[in-house]
Amino acid sequence: MDGRRMRFETTTGKRRAPRRIRLARTVLFLIVVAAVICVAIWGCGAVGKLIEENASDETANEDIVEDEDAAASPNEEGNDSAPSSASEEAQPDPYARFSALYYYEEERLDRYLQYEAAHPELAPEEVVWRVDVDIDKPFYEDVIEIAASDADSEQTLVNKHFKFSDDFEPAELVQVDGDYRVTPGTKEAYERLRDDAKAAGISIRAASAYRSIDYQVGLYARYLNEDPDNADNYSARPGFSEHHTGRTIDLVGPSGTLRGFVGTKEADWVRENAWNYGFIVRYTVENEDVTGYESEPWHITYIGKEAAALMRVEGIGSLEEYVAKYVRHTPPPLSPQ
Ligand code: DAL
Ligand code: ZN
Repeated sequence: MDGRRMRFETTTGKRRAPRRIRLARTVLFLIVVAAVICVAIWGCGAVGKLIEENASDETANEDIVEDEDAAASPNEEGNDSAPSSASEEAQPDPYARFSALYYYEEERLDRYLQYEAAHPELAPEEVVWRVDVDIDKPFYEDVIEIAASDADSEQTLVNKHFKFSDDFEPAELVQVDGDYRVTPGTKEAYERLRDDAKAAGISIRAASAYRSIDYQVGLYARYLNEDPDNADNYSARPGFSEHHTGRTIDLVGPSGTLRGFVGTKEADWVRENAWNYGFIVRYTVENEDVTGYESEPWHITYIGKEAAALMRVEGIGSLEEYVAKYVRHTPPPLSPQ
């Protein structure tokens, strides 16, 4: 064994690597450790970035969903291009007092607001049905002509906002109580009412029924001539009278006059029982501001048993309100209890 070889042997007898080789091994080891650390650091960074990117993707997706929502329901001003933020969507509808009603009509919103401002004593429910049937307009302004298809309906609304065409006549008229004329359905219902009243000790008969538009021309002209300041409070202008329908009857009792009917037991009986035969007392003290006429307890109008019963049960005080809530609009079905 030579001396050089002896230097590579340990005290335990194992041979040691030469110094250069050990140095090289150490350097290699350090390079590997450094590389592992670098890879680990890079890996963490990449994972972090990936998480960040995912998170921002989700935010972007949410934005897209919000934009889609905004496109589907444009905001109130109709500006559907501006994305609405979550806080804007959470705003309550400032007109919910109107829009929550099933008989709300969006295009009348400005008129609801104006009528509400002019009538702070009225609840929103009242404001909406009134405006729906043009009660906010002055009488005899912007009058609408009743469509021929609606003219013979039992719930046709004829008042100071809705008139018949000049050539309107009911499809069929039959005689009742002598020479008075009414529609067949009105006659049948009236004769039952009159006969039941008689059985209860109440004596009533017709004093006026169908009136043609020509007849009303003369009648109104006479009232206007005699009483120009008040005629519109009790006489309809030609084309605007319910008497044109053939479903209206003016009643008298033993006095034989309309004024003599007021405050009698006959008037009381009619007010309490007419609905049961499909009639309503059309002009009452309570609905004077809606109809524009003074109370007429003698003027009854046949609207059908179902409608008259519904008005009675629901406490609906005018045909105007009934038409707004049950003819122009349909109430939602009752939910099962
Ligand atoms: N008296 C009622 C309002 C009419 O003239 O038709
Ligand atoms: Zn009348």
